[in-house]
Formats: sequence, structure tokens, C-alpha cells
Amino acid sequence: MSSVTNSEVQLIGRSEAVRTILTDIDCAARSGAKVLITGETGVGKEVVARLIHQRSARAASRLVTVNCAGLPDSLLESELFGHVRGSFTGAYRDKPGLLEMAPNGTVFLDEVGEMSARMQVVLLRFLETGEIQRIGADRSHTRVNVRLITATNRDLPKEIASGNFREDLFFRLNVIRMHLPPLRERIEDVPLLFDHYLTYYCTQHRVERPEVATATLDALLAYRWPGNIRELRNVAERIALKSTGAVLKPTDLPSELIRTSEAVAAAAPAVGQTSQVEDMTTRMLRQGESFWSAVYPVFMQRDMTRDELRRIIEIGLESTNGNYRLLVALFNMPPDDYKRFLGFLRKHSCHLPFQRFRTITRTPRNFAVAG
Ligand SMILES: Nc1ncnc2c1ncn2[C@@H]1O[C@H](COP(=O)(O)OP(=O)(O)OP(=O)(O)O)[C@@H](O)[C@H]1O
Ligand SMILES: [Mg+2]
Repeated sequence: MSSVTNSEVQLIGRSEAVRTILTDIDCAARSGAKVLITGETGVGKEVVARLIHQRSARAASRLVTVNCAGLPDSLLESELFGHVRGSFTGAYRDKPGLLEMAPNGTVFLDEVGEMSARMQVVLLRFLETGEIQRIGADRSHTRVNVRLITATNRDLPKEIASGNFREDLFFRLNVIRMHLPPLRERIEDVPLLFDHYLTYYCTQHRVERPEVATATLDALLAYRWPGNIRELRNVAERIALKSTGAVLKPTDLPSELIRTSEAVAAAAPAVGQTSQVEDMTTRMLRQGESFWSAVYPVFMQRDMTRDELRRIIEIGLESTNGNYRLLVALFNMPPDDYKRFLGFLRKHSCHLPFQRFRTITRTPRNFAVAG
């Protein structure tokens, strides 16, 4: 549940979002202020916490990671603050807590949103005084100088509203806030990440690295990645384990990815026949061209019918499970274009209701291989 590490970490990506994250990391590293990192599971919260530590003046000291989820209060409190001999059954000797083990270093409290109400009070008291009181001791034992970085995939303001998280603690933790967007909102990072992890695992498992077919890459781009980068990393490892060195086809991908790939294939040109719709979708889905340069001018010059535009939108919605925000990324537009894009569709009566494209998907919280 906890680790003390200084190993190298990498933040891969070329999206605007990743560039912003890197700038924010450097900015956070220059100060000693508390950082709260939010984002869905597997988006890289721990990677960011480690980079902040490694690039900070505290890098020579330790980074201690404590996962607050799934531990009874007494264990978590003892891990963090330590205990004195005889304070509970099995406490044979005094034991320092992890906070004491990182003097002048950083403590990363992961899944802080899972802390019980009582532990939230204990943490708040520590943040107010900087004093460590071991379990069973009647006064504080010492003061420590540690920097606190916390992370959660919960929506803390919502948790506060429903009475599950203390507002005063939130304000203490939320000094520098970094929100990491899900992978589907920075889909342009997928090829780079997949390439990196495929090479990494093929080298590790000593197998030949396969070439990735264009249709396979399309399937990776069209997928929603509910488990974000951890899920992508696991997919790359599974593929590496099965690799024979042959070109990687869409059918070699896990089934949940193939379903999306079929929608993309439906948009691919059939032999000997390329319609306007097929040509446009190919340019966007395979060649990375933006909707604004591929489709928009043609439609505005009336070289494309509304029905053709609707069909293009339909193909996009089929690939993204009815999600217009994802469709914006799929059609290579920056996230900020979302409103403009929907406005354009509405103006020309091409805004299709998304509901019929929705299928029920489960959002797994944990994947087999923890990163
Ligand atoms: N930008 C990135 N470049 C390379 N690898 C990444 C990147 N972001 C995340 N990873 C990898 O993805 C995996 C998940 O990242 P991490 O553990 O930091 O996610 P998390 O947000 O803490 O997830 P959780 O909420 O489930 O704890 C790790 O193996 C990490 O190395
Ligand atoms: Mg984590």
C-alpha cells in the first residue's frame, strides 16, 4: 500500500493537454505548495506526482506514496503517523510513520477521496500543526517538513455537497490544482503512447515488434479508453505477449476495441467505389485531417448534401458511442471547437440525437496489471 521510490518516470504525449501538464509540473516543482491532482483512473496522476517531486528541490529526499483506499482507519493512521509500543495488540515496539520517513521530502497521498471522516480530521489536524502524534502517544512526537501531494478520481466538490468530504480539508489540499483529462479527450496521444508501450513490452518479452496496420491504428483512435493510459498499456502488453512479429490487424485487438473498429471499417471505401462520404471519413479517420478543412468548405460550397453530412456525423457517433465531445477529437478538432461544431450542425439541421448510438458500457475501476 505504500512505496518509497525514486525511479524514472515519463510523461509521453504531444497533445496540447500534455504540454500544459508539463508546464504545470514545472511550475508546481518550483514551489513547495500542496498539489491536488484529479482525473479518471489511469490518466497518470501518480506519474505527475512523481515528476513534481523529481523536479523539485526535494528530489534528493524521499517520495513516499500512501494509498488511502481500502485500509481500515487504524492501519492507515499507523502507516502515516506511526504508533507507540503497546498502543494496540501486536504493537510490540515504537514504529515511526511514513510521514516521518520523508523528512524534507514529499508524501503522495493517493485516493485521498476515499478517506473516512475520522481520518480526514486526523489529516486536517496534521496539516494545521505539522505535528506528528503517534497512535497511543499522549502528545505530539515531532514536527516534520514534508510536501503533500494528493490525488483522487472523485469529484471532491460533489463529495463535499453530499457530506462525504470535509470542505475545510479540501481547501487545505487544493492549493495547486492539476486536472488530467481522460485519454479520449487527447486522442492524438494514442499513437505515441501505443508505439512506446508496444516497443517497451516487445523488448521486455524479447519478441519481434509488429508493424501496426492503419486500420488497427484507426481502431485504437476510435476507442473510448475508459481505463485510460493504464488500459492502453495493458492492451500493448497483451499484444506483445502474443506477437509473432506479423503485422498487427484489427482482429488481433481485444474484443472491446474491435467493436469500434467495425464502425470505422464501415466508413472505409469499398473497392472500386468511393463516395464523397467515404472520401471525407477516410481523410479524417485515417489521415488525421480536420473536419474544418476536409468537410466544412465542401459543405459550405454546396458540393455536399445535408444527408451526406448527416451520414458522416452518424459514422462518427457510431465510433464514439454517441459522444459528441469524442467525435470532435475523432474528427481532429481541438476540444475548444465543441460549441462551434455543434452550432454549425444545428444551424444546418445536421445535429443527430446521440441517444440511439449509446450502448451500455461498464467503467472498470481496476485492471489486471497495476501500473
Ligand atoms: N503520459 C504518460 N506517458 C506514459 N505513461 C503514462 C502516462 N500517463 C500514465 N502512464 C502510465 O499509465 C499507468 C497509469 O498511470 P497512473 O498510475 O499514474 O494513473 P492514476 O491516474 O494514478 O490512476 P488511478 O486513479 O487508477 O490510481 C502507469 O503505468 C503509468 O506509467
Ligand atoms: Mg494512482
